[in-house]
Amino acid sequence: MKSTTQFLIAGAILLPAAIWSGNGEAADTRRPVRLNETEHEFVLSEMRGFVESLQQVMSGLAAGNMKMVAEAAKRSGRRTANQAPRSLAIKFPPAFAALGAATHQYWDELAAEAEDMGDGAEIVRQLSVLLNNCTTCHAGYRLVRDAD
Ligand code: HEC
Repeated sequence: MKSTTQFLIAGAILLPAAIWSGNGEAADTRRPVRLNETEHEFVLSEMRGFVESLQQVMSGLAAGNMKMVAEAAKRSGRRTANQAPRSLAIKFPPAFAALGAATHQYWDELAAEAEDMGDGAEIVRQLSVLLNNCTTCHAGYRLVRDAD
C-alpha cells in the first residue's frame, strides 16, 4: 500500500517534468510568424481591438442594444484589415492569412445580423464560431520580432 502511494506520488512529480522540455520551458509547437516592429505592433493592436469589440458586443447584447453590437463588430471588420501594412501579405503564412481574413469577415457578418434581424441568439451562435477562429489561430501560431 505504502509503495503504491509512493509510486503515485513519484508519477505525479515526474510525469509533468517529462512533458516539459529540458530547459524548464513548456515545448512551444506553435509556428513562428516573423514580423518587424511596425508589423508586430499592428497585429497586436488589432488583437486588442478584437477584445474591445468582444466586450462591447457582449455589453450591447446584455442591454439589447443592437446598434451598439453592430458598431462594435464593424470596428473589427474588414475595414481594419485594409489598414494593414502591405508587407504583411507576403509574411503571413497562407493559412494564417486565411484565418485572419475569415475572422474580419465574421465580424462584418455579425454586424449585418445585428442591423438586420437583431436576433440575440443568432449573434451568440455567430460569436461562438468567430471565437473558434481566435483559439484555432492562437493554438497554431506565435509572433516573433525580427529586425526590419
Ligand atoms: C490569424 C491568427 C489569429 C486570429 C484569427 C486571432 N489571433 Fe489573437 N493573436 C495571434 C497571434 C499569433 C498572437 C501573438 C501570440 C504570441 O506571439 O504568443 C495573438 C495575440 C493576441 C492577443 C494579445 C495581444 C497583446 O497585446 O499582446 C490578444 C488579446 C488576442 N490575440 C485576441 C484575439 C481574439 C479575441 C481573437 C478573435 C476575435 C483573435 N485574437 C484572433 C493570432 C491570431
